[in-house]
Amino acid sequence: MTVFIVDDDADHLAALADLVEVGGHSVRAFERAQDAVEAAAATPPDAILTDLRMPGMDGMDLLAAIATQARDIPVIMLTGHGDVAQAVRAIQAGAEDFLEKPYDAAHLLSVLARALRARATRAEVARLQKELSLKSGAILGESPAITALNERLSALAPLDVDVILTGETGTGKELAARALHAASKRAQGPYVALNCAALPEALFELEVFGHAAAAFPGAQEKPGKLEAANGGSLVLDEVESMPLPLQGKLLRALQERQVERIGENHLRPLDIRILTTSKTDLRAACAEGRFRADLFYRLAGAEVALPPLRNLGPDIALIFAHYVSLAARRYGRDAPEITIGLRRDLMRRDWPGNVRELKSMAERFALGLGVGPAADLPKGETLPERMADYEAREITAALDRYGQSVERAAQALGVPRRTLADKMARYGIKG
Ligand SMILES: Nc1ncnc2c1ncn2[C@@H]1O[C@H](COP(=O)(O)OP(=O)(O)O)[C@@H](O)[C@H]1O
Ligand SMILES: [Mg+2]
Repeated sequence: MTVFIVDDDADHLAALADLVEVGGHSVRAFERAQDAVEAAAATPPDAILTDLRMPGMDGMDLLAAIATQARDIPVIMLTGHGDVAQAVRAIQAGAEDFLEKPYDAAHLLSVLARALRARATRAEVARLQKELSLKSGAILGESPAITALNERLSALAPLDVDVILTGETGTGKELAARALHAASKRAQGPYVALNCAALPEALFELEVFGHAAAAFPGAQEKPGKLEAANGGSLVLDEVESMPLPLQGKLLRALQERQVERIGENHLRPLDIRILTTSKTDLRAACAEGRFRADLFYRLAGAEVALPPLRNLGPDIALIFAHYVSLAARRYGRDAPEITIGLRRDLMRRDWPGNVRELKSMAERFALGLGVGPAADLPKGETLPERMADYEAREITAALDRYGQSVERAAQALGVPRRTLADKMARYGIKG
């Protein structure tokens, strides 16, 4: 660790420097605060120990100058004996700590060590926060299905092909579309999503193709979503719910990569990549005449299927844990423990709402509200297996409710403590 020491009194400075060096740090000594500030800007130290009263730039000025460098360098202020008011002012101005003169050598080193530890902790928290924020937006999971999905998306992203993403609700189709866009050559361009299910038919054309000022009374000229996505990606979200007549109109624009605003009669060029999401199998919809095959083939440069959550095994608990810790942080609470019993419970559920459902359950769980019972009994299990499962869940819930106290959970469940402990051991539940 490098420590800067600043004191206008050369004798004090030398003594202080010796002491800190003996404490195991490398030291740079400055008689003028201005020199220390300049040196810190060039190579920031891990801490600064400075005298308060100095001619010219004093300790408070140094503190202010270091703060503007925004490097998180803790400053420890050496104040005169009994100068409490100054010490308080220094702390308020952002000093990490202060020491009264004459200082005791051991005390000085322990204050310095504390300041360095506090700084290391802040750096670690910042690093973790950055890691987490980078991860949000990532498609989490280590199962073969998710690994294959991530590989396929990485391979497709840089190619400028249109992609259809198919999967049940909440499986991460929009997340995948964003990932494709973010890793594409169009990443700096716009990302425009068009929800085909939410738009009334009458508004669809105006929204998608845009319109001229004369299109209808009171109209202002407005580009549509197709134009808005120029240079970037357009997501046709939930395309399976697009009415057939609109499919035909959309097809024409996509085939020609040109758009005509409503009420205008000239074509504008389009440079867009289309990412389509669908909850249902569009090939089957084509076969049944609910979706235009020609539009399907236009959109299906590549097809990617997103796996349902219930098939992802241990990834269920992994994704759950991720969203529990995010939510706990947001609520400023400690995340409740995810017991083995709970993991087993989560992995046996059906998850019709997939990751979206898992995520909202994780948020309730982070608030201490538990996860509630599964809607359906696990299928294809023997009665003893179901009983064991039920018992494990009840025990987990009781432990959650009573802050993991085996004593109080046993009381609430009306069984002897020993019995509960035995059952917990059998089911791998930690108290
Ligand atoms: N594999 C995953 N890892 C982390 N979060 C996911 C994953 N899959 C989905 N999510 C999250 O679940 C929620 C639903 O995903 P979304 O992409 O909106 O689903 P869909 O569009 O398929 O209905 C979003 O908050 C998304 O971030
Ligand atoms: Mg969606």
